[in-house]
Amino acid sequence: MSIYKLVYGIPDVDSEAVVNKRIAVELECSDEGLYKIENIFEDIEFFSEDGFLVLKRRVSEGLVYGFGDKVGALNKRGKRYTFWNTDNYTHHPGTDPLYKSFPFYIFIDSNGIKHGVFTDYPGYLEIDLDSEGNGEFTFKIKGRGFVQYVITGKSIKEIVSSYVKLTGKNTAFPIWAFGYQQSRWSYFSQKEVLEIAKKFRSRQIPCDVIWLDIDYMDSYKVFTWNPKTFSSPEKMVGKLHKMGFKISAIIDPGVKVEKGYEVFESGKNKYFLKDNSGKDFEGAVWPGRVRFPDFRERKVRKWWGRYVNEFSKIGIDGFWNDMNEISVFATEKELEEIRNLFKNSTLEEGVNLAIKAGTVGEIGRRGRGEDIVHLDGEPHYKVRNVYGFNMNRAAFEGIKSNKRKFLITRSAYSGIQRYGGVWTGDNHSWWEHIFLEMIRLSSLSLSGVFYSGCDVGGFGGDVNAELLIRFMQFGSFIPMFRNHSAIGTRNQEPWAFGKKYEDILKKVIQNRYTLIPYIYTEYMRGILKNVPLLVPLFYHFEKDKLTYNIEDEFMLGSSLLIAPVYRPGQYYRVVYLPKRALELNNNKFFSKGWHCIDAPLEIIPYFQIDGTIVPRWKAMNYLFEKEPEFVNATVVAYSGKAAGYFYEDDGITKEYKKGKYNLYKIFYKDGDIYVKALKEAIPHKSRRWIFKVFTKNNVETLEKII
Ligand code: GLC
Repeated sequence: MSIYKLVYGIPDVDSEAVVNKRIAVELECSDEGLYKIENIFEDIEFFSEDGFLVLKRRVSEGLVYGFGDKVGALNKRGKRYTFWNTDNYTHHPGTDPLYKSFPFYIFIDSNGIKHGVFTDYPGYLEIDLDSEGNGEFTFKIKGRGFVQYVITGKSIKEIVSSYVKLTGKNTAFPIWAFGYQQSRWSYFSQKEVLEIAKKFRSRQIPCDVIWLDIDYMDSYKVFTWNPKTFSSPEKMVGKLHKMGFKISAIIDPGVKVEKGYEVFESGKNKYFLKDNSGKDFEGAVWPGRVRFPDFRERKVRKWWGRYVNEFSKIGIDGFWNDMNEISVFATEKELEEIRNLFKNSTLEEGVNLAIKAGTVGEIGRRGRGEDIVHLDGEPHYKVRNVYGFNMNRAAFEGIKSNKRKFLITRSAYSGIQRYGGVWTGDNHSWWEHIFLEMIRLSSLSLSGVFYSGCDVGGFGGDVNAELLIRFMQFGSFIPMFRNHSAIGTRNQEPWAFGKKYEDILKKVIQNRYTLIPYIYTEYMRGILKNVPLLVPLFYHFEKDKLTYNIEDEFMLGSSLLIAPVYRPGQYYRVVYLPKRALELNNNKFFSKGWHCIDAPLEIIPYFQIDGTIVPRWKAMNYLFEKEPEFVNATVVAYSGKAAGYFYEDDGITKEYKKGKYNLYKIFYKDGDIYVKALKEAIPHKSRRWIFKVFTKNNVETLEKII
């Protein structure tokens, strides 16, 4: 394994994505900006043209994976991609760019030789992965130079892990982040929030987190509460906590221009991005006229971080950082150009502009950020893609607590995993989006982000009962299981379609809770060893060439394979298994290869790979509700052998970093269970374990105190 650092032109901006600079070996280029590496690629041209630097590289046949949550096929080859963080509400399989930039891919040639390439440039960047079919990749930036890291390694695992070492370890989320989460734009009052919470508890549908969207704020002013509808937030939070819920609130970067509003007053002419004339740059977002903090500056992050910290003190458990591409519905200049379309709209009418944003947004999207200047003088087009990254970082650095942080962001750049997780933005209640999200979440993992999610049920548009069930079944196997929907769409809480569907959804959510010991074990082992939780099949079965084209299945941890249903009216699924596995709805073995699996509406096909042990416990209404009486583990040992793990720690503090956790390896062989403590650094509470063992011709139950 090696990491090479290649320098092209004169890189003059640092994205700060790379934290471990020492592990990369800087290479001398053979010619002006041209490199050839271990015969895996050869640069052929490097030139500048109309303010862009262009690098052309010859590559062999092969597959390409990664690029974060870009839409389209899992194999990224054959398309040109733009990295320019963009808010795009109605994205579809062809939309590019979107919210995030992860210019990292893994290349696998036809002989199975692999390498990773991270093009570290936080400004406007295009990467063409052989869209012309002539064996050339092109890298194009608007700027003076960029750095590229090339990672060679024997396996995909090794390359992902090296990339994570380069860009920073994932910060661990608390265990409750793996419970079910309910959101909506918006629950409009504290009364409504509490009603939703009560419904979960009275119906005994498990739920851990309730989310507050923008309407908790006073006129969308960040770090405020609406005095009428959220008049006693502290009380509300207290009640929710008593009921076992955690609360996550949205934060938007745009600070409302309003005389006397403290955040605005303390930031103006000091902490906000500038326009070309040196004045604070202004645009319209939800609050109307807003200005945007320049989060690249340490002092600005400190200033913002203090507000986040203060705001969290009433007991807010987490935050989601939104609109931070940055999304600007319109600027004064743009309004001028299209004034006739928008009659007499003004920036003050931010929300109204948003409603018409389909058109206004387009104009903002096409721009190259020439009209925004950062406090250190950098034009926005050179650093745009790290805006959201630094906003999330400001919250991460600002919250003073020894607990793990719960932060997600819509816009991001490589390295974001150090400060939190991500969600994929505004998807839709479309069947196509279940499929799309499988690919996006798998690719995010390959790009180093281990805690990710999408709006389960779909954000835009009206969901129907069948789609909601299929979306929720899929969502119950992704890291962040959050149901979220847009204003004006029909409700999609688990009870939204009546008793019959509620019962199915309750079971879907309960099944997720039974898997928490397994999911948490796999997640935390992954955090420690730089292994993502949700991955495409080839990550764990890379010798099996067939897996490279499977886009509609994924692995959750190394033992469970998930095959969601993502078309209406389908009550079976064609599934490829890279190894013999046990189908867990009917406890039936299937051999390696293709199978047609029954999938009536209440069932999502999922499998436990032969030779593994998956710990589970009884579903509870929320994590920490009670101590589970026992662990029931499924042992899949067709040929008589299996192994699995059980990880435990306090689930909420950062003590795991100091090694304060227990990790057990559990074996099944010769008809019995054996346990090896790989690490035992905190007091362990013995539990009764009930093992259900599936061998070739037999099913038996074994018990043990572990
Ligand atoms: C953006 C977010 C969405 C949120 C909405 C209102 O569209 O992506 O999740 O609900 O803004 O805040």
